[in-house]
Amino acid sequence: MNLKVEQTLNPKSLPDFQKLGFGQYFTDHIFMAHFERSKGWHSFELAPYKSLNLDPAASVLHYGQALFEGMKAFKRPSGQIVLFRPDFNYNRMKSGSERLCLEMPSYDIFLEGIKKLIQLDSHWVPDLPNTSLYIRPTLIGTEAFLGVRPSDKYLFFVILSPCGNYFGNDKPVEIWVEESFIRAAPGGLGATKAAANYAASLKAAHEAKKKGFTQVLWLDVNHKYVEEVGTMNVFFVFKDEVVTPSLEGTILGGGTRDSVLQILKHKGMNIKERRISIDEIISGIQSGQLTEAFGTGTAAVISPIGTLSYKNQKYVINNNQNGPLSLELRTFISNLQLGHQKDIYGWIHPI
Ligand code: COI
Repeated sequence: MNLKVEQTLNPKSLPDFQKLGFGQYFTDHIFMAHFERSKGWHSFELAPYKSLNLDPAASVLHYGQALFEGMKAFKRPSGQIVLFRPDFNYNRMKSGSERLCLEMPSYDIFLEGIKKLIQLDSHWVPDLPNTSLYIRPTLIGTEAFLGVRPSDKYLFFVILSPCGNYFGNDKPVEIWVEESFIRAAPGGLGATKAAANYAASLKAAHEAKKKGFTQVLWLDVNHKYVEEVGTMNVFFVFKDEVVTPSLEGTILGGGTRDSVLQILKHKGMNIKERRISIDEIISGIQSGQLTEAFGTGTAAVISPIGTLSYKNQKYVINNNQNGPLSLELRTFISNLQLGHQKDIYGWIHPI
């Protein structure tokens, strides 16, 4: 990759790493790559963080050709910076790009762009407990053309945001089980990280927030089976098994979900990916068979679920406390990322 590098002349001041929250601060630089049907991928640049120059007719603005990823880098006590499972994120973005008829750069461009950007902004990688550098690779159609067809021009860019806890604190989340809106339908975009999925989720999430809930639990098109939380996949711990909804084409298969599945299988636990109805979950809470529930996501990490509200009834899980399995998983994954745990899965990529 022939990379043009322009360093900022006006570096920003670093935020207070103790008060990062999520997605509020952006580092000094951006990585960009451009695609044109006649030229392929070209003009690779590391530039000062800046606004995009987009034609008002760009296809992303009208027909929503937009796809993104969420991944993280960590600063270890030794000062070394590592990426967590970038190949997983690339593969998911690649398959999403096929579903959305977008052109995706090669893995080498993706990885080198991200690594060089982080090297340039390495002082932005926070090193306090429960902090990380959130990486947002994004792919959009930029051709100025109003006919409805895939764009012939694309922009791939990566921005970086130092972050702390996604929910602002470690308390178990309060979840609203959504009974009217749905996030995705069979044959649709649910399995991709398309910007459109997040647009579709905003109304229900906004309504739920007004009622005091943290997140929405989506059900399937028949309002029977549990799907995901939009920003997280979900796991339910029963006395005899751990269950997470199977990926039926409407759920986004998260990297943390996949990591948790591998870790629990390796521990020899009885873990099932299967369809699970909201009724089964409610009766599990009522009978005491369901002992713990948690969400998994890159941004959310492992977040215990304290309550579920369904049909105007609030159901409390594990006394609204962090459960032992979610705590164990969070500690294990964090130890692996920070180098306190041997990387037996090959998930760590040093920068
Ligand atoms: C992530 O976990 O990376 C997400 O994309 C969730 C949300 C911040 C959009």
